[in-house]
Amino acid sequence: MKRFLLCLTALLFLLPAIVFSEENPNPEMELGGNLFLINRDHPIGKDYYPHDLVEPRVLGGGEATRMRPEAAAALEEMFDAAKEEGLFLAAVSGYRSYGQQASIFDRKLQKVDRQTAQRTVAPPGCSEHQLGLAMDLGTKKEIRLTAAFGETPEGQWVAANAHRFGFIIRYKAEWEEITGYAFEPWHIRYVGKDHARNIFNWDIPLEEYIDRQLSPYVVAEDEGENTQ
Ligand code: DAL
Ligand code: ZN
Repeated sequence: MKRFLLCLTALLFLLPAIVFSEENPNPEMELGGNLFLINRDHPIGKDYYPHDLVEPRVLGGGEATRMRPEAAAALEEMFDAAKEEGLFLAAVSGYRSYGQQASIFDRKLQKVDRQTAQRTVAPPGCSEHQLGLAMDLGTKKEIRLTAAFGETPEGQWVAANAHRFGFIIRYKAEWEEITGYAFEPWHIRYVGKDHARNIFNWDIPLEEYIDRQLSPYVVAEDEGENTQ
């Protein structure tokens, strides 16, 4: 009986830790973490605001291209590396508040039907831009966000190299059914170097990567060799 009571007490003490660790397998996936998943199925409230936004010191950098400090530093590193290869990226749109996203979405709805709008613009509360971890990219010559960016030397370089700096191409054409968005070669999302490398090597959308993180059967993060 004494042993039973002892075990019961130990369990009661451990239970919160067990529950907590199951709900939070990785603190990076919490709101405020680099791996936080936001999409139409996982919106955030209108009040979420990252308080540490900074303006990246890059071409096009300013109020409209603010990001969280770690992402901004990675962006600077990436722009510098591109420049060394004679490629000139431009920052176009970084952090956007809930209200700004609502205006963009409404403006789109005035031009196209709802289904088309939803393929291209996230409804307010559902955009990665509200996290301060996303950036829309253009080039020195062209800052309009069109699929043509993907065909430019800069766009091709970003697709092949962004992961080295901790960014992923978030909306690839073949993932539309999962992400809900048409191809956006210009939209990059910061997740940190290790995750970006895995996502690039595995060639999977963030939704699937998060599922793998949550699965107890997932193989441990690779060392960069895995091409699964
Ligand atoms: N264009 C992306 C989906 C956004 O609005 O966040
Ligand atoms: Zn974007």
